[in-house]
Amino acid sequence: MIAIEVHLAADAAATMRRDVRAGLSTDPKELAPKYFYDERGSQLFEQITELPEYYPTRAERSILAERSEEIVAAAGKPQTLVELGSGSAAKTRHLLSAMQDAGCLQTYVPVDISEEITHETAEALVGEYPGLAVRGLVCDFEHDLERIPEGHGGRLIAFLGGTIGNLYPAARRDFLTRLAGLMDPDDRLLLGTDLVKAHNRLEAAYDDASGVTAEFNKNVLAVLNRELGADFDLDAFEHVALYDAEEGRMDIRLRSLEEQTIRLEGLEMDVSFAHGEEMRTEISSKFTYEQLTRVYGEAGLAISGWFTDADCDYALSLARPS
Ligand code: AVJ
Repeated sequence: MIAIEVHLAADAAATMRRDVRAGLSTDPKELAPKYFYDERGSQLFEQITELPEYYPTRAERSILAERSEEIVAAAGKPQTLVELGSGSAAKTRHLLSAMQDAGCLQTYVPVDISEEITHETAEALVGEYPGLAVRGLVCDFEHDLERIPEGHGGRLIAFLGGTIGNLYPAARRDFLTRLAGLMDPDDRLLLGTDLVKAHNRLEAAYDDASGVTAEFNKNVLAVLNRELGADFDLDAFEHVALYDAEEGRMDIRLRSLEEQTIRLEGLEMDVSFAHGEEMRTEISSKFTYEQLTRVYGEAGLAISGWFTDADCDYALSLARPS
């Protein structure tokens, strides 16, 4: 059984115009990381996940491959798997298979912004898991979290990939608080987070030798050129990725290589960059066990499971409403 609900905002273009105008009007300038992911940006991110320097995807996959049985048991053998940002559900199959083996699997709820991918994933999964019900939600899950269907027999709500690292502390707290508010006592959150480690490894993961991450970062300018009629010259900016130890996060920017003025026709706006001026395009927060317990505590959640890869580079944690 497949049922997919679509709740895409009619005003995505207006939201983008508003976001970009605001971000280019502040000092320092800033763009939201969600604008990286057009078709080209999504392809580049796929390439990033295969880079030798970029360990998080491999580390998360190894945890799921080796410990999904334990995770499902620790989560109380949930009947429903909800996945925020499901995409092609490549890593999800480990969890679904463990739920099937445990005899609890009934429903998969993929939540994703792409209608096409959600349909494809749903079709593929009902073929692979006989009897599986797929109740997909096509929406911006940060906006439409409250649309997640009620669960019977416990839900495991997976938010993988370390995407939570993109949120500033206040937005992260709000998001987790809302999530906690819609969780029943027998629901569990499964959250993927990158962990604090040697700064040189973190910086290499976000500034790879082959330049894929630099291209990914600059692609946001190509998105603005296309969507907002801007005239950014991608060669007039350089990729900057530094670890901010105080904030515990990668700070990713584009630095203007010259003094320049950009026209954004779609915003009827001109924006000046000084030589060397930096514009933030992304943060990617890194955690320790202690920090994460604090982050959960502030949101009304309590940690109930901790699973890392062999090198302790990355963690999947389970949390329950407290
Ligand atoms: C998709 C947000 C998890 O922060 O590691 C990778 C994005 N940016 N390289 C991350 C990203 C540059 C990635 N997340």
